Amino acid sequence: MFAPGRVNVIGEHTDYNQGLALPFAITDGITVRASSREPDPDGGHVEAIARDLQESDRFALSNPEPTTGWRAFVRGAVSELQDAGFPLLATHLEISGGLPQGAGLSSSAALTVALCMALLELSPSHDKPGEPTIDRLALARLCSLIENDWAGAQTGLLDQIASLFGASETALCIDFQTLEVKPVPLRLQGWRFAIADSGERHVHASSGYNERRAECAQACELLGVSSLRETNLDRLHDLPEPLQRRARHVLEENDRVRATMAALASDELDAVGEQLSASHRSLRDLYQVSTPAVEATVDRLMRAGADGARLIGGGFGGSVLGLFAPDVPLPPDTLEVSPGPGAHVLAR
Ligand code: GLA
Repeated sequence: MFAPGRVNVIGEHTDYNQGLALPFAITDGITVRASSREPDPDGGHVEAIARDLQESDRFALSNPEPTTGWRAFVRGAVSELQDAGFPLLATHLEISGGLPQGAGLSSSAALTVALCMALLELSPSHDKPGEPTIDRLALARLCSLIENDWAGAQTGLLDQIASLFGASETALCIDFQTLEVKPVPLRLQGWRFAIADSGERHVHASSGYNERRAECAQACELLGVSSLRETNLDRLHDLPEPLQRRARHVLEENDRVRATMAALASDELDAVGEQLSASHRSLRDLYQVSTPAVEATVDRLMRAGADGARLIGGGFGGSVLGLFAPDVPLPPDTLEVSPGPGAHVLAR
């Protein structure tokens, strides 16, 4: 089973605020191969091997204990799937893949989605080859719960939906209020998206990510709304700082997603670049999730001729996305990214 990482064109820190985002699944991701361990001599165990890390794990199906790192996702997947009513058998899992961790490409969601789909495929409840037994939106929620409860990162649904719903040459406009996922054709006409690694790794469970989420919840409480989608810029003036800045970023970021959609629809790629840079300034100055290493990376891409560049993902490190016009060569140490298919069974 293969599940891709994602790049978010625009719409950062909007998912847990019931806002809008425009990600696409990339062609790189995580592969999980699952096989049943039959007969299981010691009854109901899961064995997992992370090939690239040369690490392994082994635990009882009936009682996966919480832990840290990649193992937390494996144990979480096994536990939450069973709790959701999917019987699992003793399984051997082999994990491999080319997504750097903590680089803002959503390696953890790709891992969780690939694990859940591989485990579901082997579940005795499974009947449709290649397709999970629950609908993809419900699976996205379950995967997000694993990240929240087992890895301690209060992340939203952006990464899981992108990984599960991606399609070639397509970005996804996600409305997190209604959970409508609308495919948006990406007609790039020779323009290219490329990412550059800031070299700084983040862990959402311990970065300022959870704090940002709590600040947004506090802003909602003071405004008397259940999400920032239900308010507008005029109402933010009474909020104390830094809550005012945080809320302003979210509301204006939703507008930038709308503006980017309009620019894409009218094939104005240079206007998309402007929105990327505006998003970055807001993430840096209002949401305050950038770092010196990220700033240096944005500057490097802009000096190399990008039309726009911004940090992607939760911030506090990770990758920067740049948009390059057809005649501009991609700078060294960047990786071109293009939309690929969502999670699917790999040919053996
Ligand atoms: C991380 C989280 C997502 C989202 C982004 C910020 O990638 O996993 O849920 O909140 O940060 O947009």
